[in-house]
Amino acid sequence: MEFVRLLLVFLHLLGMGMLVAMFFVQRRAGADAPLNKGWLHGSALQLLTGVALVGLAPLTDQDYNHLKIGVKLLVVVVIAGLVAVNLSKPKPATWLTPALAGLVVLNTGVAVFWT
Ligand code: HEM
Repeated sequence: MEFVRLLLVFLHLLGMGMLVAMFFVQRRAGADAPLNKGWLHGSALQLLTGVALVGLAPLTDQDYNHLKIGVKLLVVVVIAGLVAVNLSKPKPATWLTPALAGLVVLNTGVAVFWT
C-alpha cells in the first residue's frame, strides 16, 4: 500500500508542476490568448490524487490534518471554478493568470508549512 501512496504523491507533485508550468505557458501565449485547458487538467489531477490520498489514509497508515486538507480542497475548488467559468471566454481578465498562480503557490505553502 505504501507504493500506492507514493505513486499518488508522485502524481500529485507532477500535477503541481503542471499548474506552475501553466503560468508560464499562459504568459507566453500573451494577454489576448484564451485560457489554456491545462489549468483544468492540472487542478483536476490535484483534486483526484489529493482525495485518493485522503481516502486511502486508513489503509496507508496516514493521519492527515483534516482542517489543512479542507483548506487545500477549498483552494483547489476555487482554482477549478475560476478556470471552468473562464475557459470559454476568448480573452480572460488580466488578473486571472496571476490569481491562479497565487492560489497554486498558496496551496503549496499550506501543504509544506502547515504540519
Ligand atoms: C493546487 C492544489 C494543490 C497543490 C499545489 C498541492 C501541493 C502539495 C504538495 C507540494 C504536497 C507535498 C507536501 C509534503 O510532502 O510536505 C502535497 C501533499 C498532500 N496533498 Fe496536496 N496539493 C494540492 C491539492 C490538494 C488537495 C485538493 C488535496 C485533498 C483533497 C490534497 C491532499 C494532499 C495530501 C493528503 C498530501 C500528503 C501526501 C503524503 O505525504 O502522504 N492536496 N500537496
